[in-house]
Amino acid sequence: MKRRRGGAIVADAQPSADGRQAAATIAVYPGSFDPVTNGHVDIIRRAALYYPRLIVAVLTNPSKSPLLPLRERMLLLQEVCGNLSHVEVDCFDGLLVDFVRRRGATLIVKGLRIVSDFEHEFSMALLNRKLRGGADTMFLPASLEYAYVSSSFVREVFSLGGDISEFVPAAVLRAMTRMRVPHAVEQRRSAGPKRLALGRKKA
Ligand code: PNS
Repeated sequence: MKRRRGGAIVADAQPSADGRQAAATIAVYPGSFDPVTNGHVDIIRRAALYYPRLIVAVLTNPSKSPLLPLRERMLLLQEVCGNLSHVEVDCFDGLLVDFVRRRGATLIVKGLRIVSDFEHEFSMALLNRKLRGGADTMFLPASLEYAYVSSSFVREVFSLGGDISEFVPAAVLRAMTRMRVPHAVEQRRSAGPKRLALGRKKA
């Protein structure tokens, strides 16, 4: 029997050759989400059509020194996933495969953008199958309009004063703009006397 979920027709649970039930899969979509981009949201929406439960897992690892604190990254994800009832946001540190097992999930979902992603993502997928019993990875190709959008580009454009409104959800734009205002005021304050001093020197 088949049921309709979102735009997709999803088959009811069918035991596979090794006895696992495909349609009962809980999938994990991991990332730093610093910040969540429109490309991430596209992958979340599309992945959510195929899995009865999708856990968006935010890496807490402070060694990456994120621009946005963990709580803010999670709140933004919750806001942008708000209308998807079977999507939840959680966080993890340590090995992804340990988190996957802890949450009773069996599958990792990743988005694949440009070709250069492939090598890294492919080796991570192989590694994640090997580690401690492992978990398999399924890749969704990025939609064409987001194929070049990454969190690191967004951070760079933002830090150089560029317009990121096309690349991130409105909530992210608001949060990042709020961050920029006190930062810019502080920068102007500390740059002020230096500019005056330089001006006097020239004259
Ligand atoms: O958004 P990112 O930063 O590209 O996401 C990378 C992430 C979180 C998926 C990856 O760094 C990860 O899985 N980290 C957890 C540590 C781990 O399990 N490492 C072994 C597999 S590479």
